[in-house]
Amino acid sequence: MNTIITGLQWGDEGKGKIVDFLTASADVVIRSQGGNNAGHTVITRGIKYILHLLPSGILWDDKINVIGNGVVIDPVGLVEEIQRVEAQGVAITPAKLLISDRAHIVLPIHKELDAAREIALGAHKIGTTKRGIGPAYADKINRCGLRMADFADRAFVTARITQRVAEANEILARCGLPTYEAAAVCAEVFCAIERLLPHVTNTIPVLHAAWQAKQTLLFEGAQGTLLDVDFGTYPFVTSSNTTAGGACTGSGLPPMAIERVIGVCKAYTTRVGAGPFPTVDEGLSDYLHGLGREFGATTGRPRGCGWLDTVLLRFACMVNGVTGLAVTNLDGLDAYDTLQICTGYDIDGTLHPLPPAERDAWDRIVPVYETLPGWKCDTTGCTQFGDLPTQAQTYLARLAELCGAPIAFVGVGPDRAQTLTA
Ligand code: IMP
Repeated sequence: MNTIITGLQWGDEGKGKIVDFLTASADVVIRSQGGNNAGHTVITRGIKYILHLLPSGILWDDKINVIGNGVVIDPVGLVEEIQRVEAQGVAITPAKLLISDRAHIVLPIHKELDAAREIALGAHKIGTTKRGIGPAYADKINRCGLRMADFADRAFVTARITQRVAEANEILARCGLPTYEAAAVCAEVFCAIERLLPHVTNTIPVLHAAWQAKQTLLFEGAQGTLLDVDFGTYPFVTSSNTTAGGACTGSGLPPMAIERVIGVCKAYTTRVGAGPFPTVDEGLSDYLHGLGREFGATTGRPRGCGWLDTVLLRFACMVNGVTGLAVTNLDGLDAYDTLQICTGYDIDGTLHPLPPAERDAWDRIVPVYETLPGWKCDTTGCTQFGDLPTQAQTYLARLAELCGAPIAFVGVGPDRAQTLTA
């Protein structure tokens, strides 16, 4: 079944593991948005892999992996990632990894421009991953970006980089940040592109042929719905459409190619970076950090943690058309006596079932909670949904009811084997 896997919170929902689990029955795994701001941790055969741009299917021998046109690719970062994963024993051949010739490039200047923008925003900064994602997408929309296909014309690329470096240097100098030498940028980028070129192709007909041949397609979403540039907590969002629609625009496959949308959420809520987080809870954050959990895969930053927020999840299920929920990290709540679920937002005395669009309304949200009993036992050894304690099953049933989508999978630990089918 052709499936989109999409994050329903602020990223870091454990999508990598669910993708890896579903890849068993997939032929092609596709990344269609975002860049190496994403960090997917997959533990398989006892080895921990952290993937940023590579689709999780790369860890399998017999899957085709596509980095689609909607992704922004830092060529230097991707080459480093390929080398790291290869050093862990995974072969990455042109037959196994295809890169869209329409994908845009993240240049070294984009990373510095990202930092400059954060400095300029001061107290209102977004808390980006500083991977240059926003500036690279800005160039794409501004029609001055560079695409993989452009590298067939070295003179064109050199001229474009030289022009963009000059423009960027003016901004960087104003912020007191290091400036760039165009020649050095070109050298660094060309060197990385050389390694990537054997993988670059027109991925659209390849994907359509796979679809027509009834192969199973799996779209691996990055980040999460509340970081979507349209549906997220704007401006505290990333710069791509992280929701289900992004899978089509970012791959060239049409909506009718999709048969299932699996929305991934944690059994609680986490967020890195700045921006509103109504159900954040210091006690839960301290507890999970104390267990060594909830540190960002890309930046290592501790994530803020809070109670399950079904206002956000209800909205996320709507905009993604979620057909099944994958609830991860259920075991993170194993020790708790009672659990809180946010069912609505009280804003100035009015109850809201969906998140607001107004920026200032987020500051006035009082979450409305209902309390459920905890299960107070270790769930990490459960191998079937029916093994879960009754209270855990009740918690999941209430989650599904409040979000309007059925539970499909439950994660009780980081390993591929710790994924239960409901
Ligand atoms: P950017 O995508 O680096 O521009 O960062 C914008 C916002 O998205 C920041 O709050 C980041 O922390 C957040 N973000 C970007 N990628 C991820 C991710 O993969 N997981 C969680 N948060 C992310």
